[in-house]
Amino acid sequence: MTDSITIRRPDDWHVHLRDGAMLEAVAGYTARQFARAIVMPNLTPPVTTADAARAYREAIMAALPGDADFTPLMTAYLTDTISPDELARGHEDGVFTAAKLYPAGATTNSASGVTDIANIRAALEAMQSIGMPLLVHGEVTDHDIDIFDREAVFIERILEPLVRDFPALRIVLEHITTADAVRFVENAGQNVAATITPHHCHINRNAIFERGIRPHAYCLPIAKREQHRLAVRAAAVSGSPKFFLGTDSAPHAKRDKEAACGCAGIFNAPYALESYAAVFDEEDVLDHFEAFASEHGPRFYGLPLNEGTVTLRRESVDIPESLDAAGGEIVPFHAGETLRWSLI
Ligand code: NCD
Ligand code: ZN
Repeated sequence: MTDSITIRRPDDWHVHLRDGAMLEAVAGYTARQFARAIVMPNLTPPVTTADAARAYREAIMAALPGDADFTPLMTAYLTDTISPDELARGHEDGVFTAAKLYPAGATTNSASGVTDIANIRAALEAMQSIGMPLLVHGEVTDHDIDIFDREAVFIERILEPLVRDFPALRIVLEHITTADAVRFVENAGQNVAATITPHHCHINRNAIFERGIRPHAYCLPIAKREQHRLAVRAAAVSGSPKFFLGTDSAPHAKRDKEAACGCAGIFNAPYALESYAAVFDEEDVLDHFEAFASEHGPRFYGLPLNEGTVTLRRESVDIPESLDAAGGEIVPFHAGETLRWSLI
């Protein structure tokens, strides 16, 4: 039995670092585990200009110790009126690594998102021609579509036509949660990939309703049936270069989760690698972990692999019930559980 595993330094290809006091509280958790991270732009107001992304990048670095070896990779928030030139210039200047498509109303701070793909055709043309990746929150928002079906319906109604219309556009379907998404990504060209969160490998939708309502298991896209969890988990550990690590760590204060209308988001940054390692260990493919965590993402984005390594040891770690953050508390994923791998 392997008792320790050393891998090339990994990256997080999807994280919410927030701003203000929450940024101060959470940035260190991500920087401790990862060399780089794709930082989501869904602030209020959203990050829609290269100047705003530059300022946000500086705020992230200012929230970390001076010697932190961490690179935030910034994203642009696509709106109905986003300027293709601003995107292209931001990408060329090395400010925008990618752009994020939030269907308007799909999730936290998505009110300024895209109401109709037709409105961003020029932006997508520009992105396709310069090789700038499109990151997709893949859920429709129609009230007549069941929340558990929103990803599958998005793939059929929006993503399949989009891939047909922009065959060379590099697309990452973010935080996939269904067998439908796994199949779609597997069958698409090399230019289509997906990120997978730790929580969607661990929990199915029962977790949200276990002996009562469990706001800390609620995120978007919402966890699905067991058959979908198994498909997503199988994709993560498969070794396919189309699937890579993206935590979707999405911190909300405990009081905002445990409310009459609780926020969507699971905060998994503090023990993300430990959580993923458990999955690869349980599936008996720890030898696939490094590629998922440290190789597939940079290769898809056309970025160099990181130098240096991190080591996890087979050693129990007790996950706290809550952590202090931004003048309140925040509940991490796996709170109160014991994980069997520890990051050294
Ligand atoms: C994210 C957030 O809180 O910003 N929430 C979530 O449940 N994942 C937004 C998102 O990625 O959908
Ligand atoms: Zn997210």
